[in-house]
Amino acid sequence: MFHLDEKQLYLSFWRVVTYAGIHYTQGMKSLVSGIQPSGVPTIGHILGTVKNWRHYQESYRCHFFIADLHAITVQQDPAVLRANSLKLLAFFLASGVDPKKSSVTIQSHVPQHAELSWLLSCFTHLGELSRMTQFKDKSASHSTKAEPFGLFAYPVLMAADILLHEADFVPVGADQKQHIELTRDLVIRFNHRYGEVLKMPEPIIPEFGARVRSLQDPTKKMSKSDSNAQGYISIDDAPEVIVKKIKKAVTDSVGVVAYDNERPGISSLVEMYSVLTDQSVDAVEVAYQGVGYGKFKKDLADVLVSIIEPIQIEMKRLLGDEDYLDSLMSAQSRLVISRTAPYLRKIKDAIGLL
Ligand code: TYM
Repeated sequence: MFHLDEKQLYLSFWRVVTYAGIHYTQGMKSLVSGIQPSGVPTIGHILGTVKNWRHYQESYRCHFFIADLHAITVQQDPAVLRANSLKLLAFFLASGVDPKKSSVTIQSHVPQHAELSWLLSCFTHLGELSRMTQFKDKSASHSTKAEPFGLFAYPVLMAADILLHEADFVPVGADQKQHIELTRDLVIRFNHRYGEVLKMPEPIIPEFGARVRSLQDPTKKMSKSDSNAQGYISIDDAPEVIVKKIKKAVTDSVGVVAYDNERPGISSLVEMYSVLTDQSVDAVEVAYQGVGYGKFKKDLADVLVSIIEPIQIEMKRLLGDEDYLDSLMSAQSRLVISRTAPYLRKIKDAIGLL
């Protein structure tokens, strides 16, 4: 493997360039995103973020990662966590993340994430963390006073993920907006005290597809941790299971295929179809005028299968090649560690750490 010393790397990071087989153009904006291995990815993850990742890597210097340190803020079975982390890596690759164009790591393999998280925690107010809606939702499942500190501190780690990579853009689903707002507040606070050290990130939240809803309770977000598997379509679902789940998806008795805030069930399916087929919602409504839910659901299931099946086949191939995944993980973490270490040093210098 090609090695540069830290100083050369820091310089080359801006001018370059080629490092460890990844080509970056000078002045390219950077983009960061991650997914927790707290379950198997759903169609919500595909629509909300991953669908666009392969396009972003053509125009941005991208870093994608498996947020395993975030996943352990709720209890995980070690064997399941390991399996889900590898599966997520295979999912990224099978969905088009190209390690020759983007860096891709397991979060815990790059210790700078946790280290920066500690530094940032010294600038974060308890009040702002206690206002995070995701903390409130997740802690509701714990008995009072038994919520882990990590769950509370989670948004600080997320800010570290973003800031460590000097991200200009952060593509996420709508549920992550508040965390990015906190990150932006931390940048203002830190830079006010120490000068222009941290880069201000912008979220990218798509107009459609940013909040795919549960198939069984369309007032809720589709989630990989839903106890009712009928509520989500997972990357593990066989084609016939996908067809069944869509058939059983909750709609209403109106019978008109349209996007209407008063009818979240059918609206969510229309949104899904529109994003998956790259058509506007209006075009979908026109195409299905006078057509019942049955035919529309069948077409939606066919589209889902046509997108998910090739990803499943490629994931299976990748998961059968552990040597490749192992060598990829170690090469990529070496790359990212050497790329981020000088920047973390700069942050520590600003704070006054020897
Ligand atoms: P996570 O693992 O819950 O979800 C990963 C990404 O998928 C989006 N998403 C959805 N989008 C649309 N509809 C849905 N039903 C749906 N479910 C999930 C999420 O919004 C997210 O963008 N904290 C993050 C992981 C993370 C991260 C980061 C992301 C950690 N550090 C830094 C970006 C940058 C999370 O829990 O995502």
